[in-house]
Amino acid sequence: MSTIDSVLTENRVFPPADAFVGQANISGRAAYDAMCAEATNDPENFWARLARENLSWATPFTRTLDESQAPFYKWFDDGTLNVSWNCLDRHLENGNADKTAIIFERDDGTSERVTYRALHARVAQFANGIAALGYKKGDRAIIYLPMSIEAVVAMQACARLGVIHSVVFGGFSAKSLQERIADVGATLVITADEQVRGGKTIPLKPAVDEAFSMGGCDAVTNVIVYRRTGGNVAWNEGRDRWMHDVTAGQPETAPAVPVEAEHPLFILYTSGSTGKPKGVQHASAGFLLWAQLTVKWTFDLKPDDVFWCTADVGWITGHTYIAYGPLAAGATQVIFEGVPTYPNAGRFWDMIARHKVSIFYTAPTAIRSLIKAADNQPDHHPDKYDLSSLRLIGSVGEPINPEAWMWYYKNVGGERCPIVDTWWQTETGGHMITPLPGVTPLKPGSCTLPLPGIAAAIVDETGGDVELGKGGFLVVKRPWPAMIRTIWGDPERFKKSYYPEELGGTYYLAGDGANRDTDGYFWIMGRIDDVLNVSGHRLGTMEVESALVAHPLVAEAAVVGRPDDLTGEAVVAFVVLKQERPDGEEAKAIAKTLREWVGREIGPIAKPKEIRFGDNLPKTRSGKIMRRLLRVVAKGETVTQDVSTLENPAILDQLGKAL
Ligand code: WT7
Repeated sequence: MSTIDSVLTENRVFPPADAFVGQANISGRAAYDAMCAEATNDPENFWARLARENLSWATPFTRTLDESQAPFYKWFDDGTLNVSWNCLDRHLENGNADKTAIIFERDDGTSERVTYRALHARVAQFANGIAALGYKKGDRAIIYLPMSIEAVVAMQACARLGVIHSVVFGGFSAKSLQERIADVGATLVITADEQVRGGKTIPLKPAVDEAFSMGGCDAVTNVIVYRRTGGNVAWNEGRDRWMHDVTAGQPETAPAVPVEAEHPLFILYTSGSTGKPKGVQHASAGFLLWAQLTVKWTFDLKPDDVFWCTADVGWITGHTYIAYGPLAAGATQVIFEGVPTYPNAGRFWDMIARHKVSIFYTAPTAIRSLIKAADNQPDHHPDKYDLSSLRLIGSVGEPINPEAWMWYYKNVGGERCPIVDTWWQTETGGHMITPLPGVTPLKPGSCTLPLPGIAAAIVDETGGDVELGKGGFLVVKRPWPAMIRTIWGDPERFKKSYYPEELGGTYYLAGDGANRDTDGYFWIMGRIDDVLNVSGHRLGTMEVESALVAHPLVAEAAVVGRPDDLTGEAVVAFVVLKQERPDGEEAKAIAKTLREWVGREIGPIAKPKEIRFGDNLPKTRSGKIMRRLLRVVAKGETVTQDVSTLENPAILDQLGKAL
């Protein structure tokens, strides 16, 4: 059954257990309703109260929201604070210095614990080290590191100085790295010799060297290298330095530079429907507030919890729910270097048991692959492990199909743990629509209701409200503190992408289609633009197309998504070569070459699952590629739509056949 079909027939409801409600940070529907009412009636006071109660300010703010330049909203803008101080120093002052901040588990199963005191010292030393190299507030640093304590240290050290970081996922290619270094105008790059995943080492520093060789990186004066494996790396004297040399001899305390609330904390690149990935810019105070609050609200964090978010710090989930939120909230968290299936499919469950994880947050794609793996490796089925420490489990990144939800609920959550299916985006900074575990009756496949203060709604193409039960565009009608501030270097694109005139120009357009049922629950139906969601990662079809046409053999390419049981969506590419259409072994060989090419241009996640060759692409008489038809063809279905506007209808038969 397809996700959409099963979602629309889903009618199971799982109310929260009384025991959970009794102890929850937000407890019961009345408490939620009261918060929503406060936020609706007087949003400025609502947010101001939360910002005063939850953050430590260097200079208290007096202005809550400045809408004068909307949609370039400013929050708390005459206040100053330091994000790293809020994540570290204040826990030392609160008597939590010896609390474990991070349990880091390496790929090989060994682990290490770091207290808040020790983490603070390491961040201070590294901050002092990069300050000694001349880095200061407003500079931009690219971070290209594996999952590690050092990744958190690097991010926090930047925040401590007001250096704006841009983390690039370690799975992205040298080319993607180079584009980001150049676009953000980085003067510092922080990387590692190699990363270790699933028993294999994967080079990182060589990708940095390759990025430099492509040009556009001249502003970078230092490349700091964390020695993870001791593997051989080329060395550029004068530019490259080891991380341990940068920190050696540095004091274990460092000033936390107060920055304006709106000072950019980071820029994180994400795919859009057109052109190059966009640099989503987040502000310091608003982002931090929401990161901390949602950890307490959605995850119901308590002092004794052990929190584990399995995301990579290269994605927004790793920013909000590893590098900042849990630390701001004073949590103990697990950080994992490796992959869920190494050394076997029980790795996650074994880690939950060993570290007594109580809150577990992962992606549907991981759940789906572990369902399959548990079938193949019955010895590593979750029921072979002691998962009794869990009290709450979460999902993020893509719609979770009800079947996977039920498996997760039964086999991992023991029918005892609420599942928080959290809808949000790189641009939203933190959770937006999600169950509150002590409030919301759960429906498998629904992200349920907006958090207090989040004015989510569904509208039609003119911005008008649609009635419950009818689908439409997911929007947010009022600004919120953690929202994207702009696209780095391209404010016009920010306005056009997220605040389109067609909807009136005042609603944030998420880019997702959604439905609301008669209980007001949101059901996300997927992207409405040319953005794919592959294993919970966003990928622009245009990005993959540009990568393909950059290959000397390719004349033209069209890329679409196809539903996939494992990855949610899979990339299917239709390619016209400059030479004659290949078939047989030749076609297979060229397809392989092109897949690898895309892997090098963007990263392995962008490799098309399938490539089909045609003499042409289905186009209208005006030359527009009909992707709608290609989506049907990619699924192996017969086109039943009207094709009379097509210049060359016969091409559909040719493209309908797999290699
Ligand atoms: C897109 C955002 C949120 C952090 C990770 C992804 C999809 C995200 C859900 C969910 C259905 C979801 C949306 C959204 N998405 N969470 N719980 N249910 N869809 O961040 O890379 O910025 O992608 O992921 O389509 O727009 P991202």
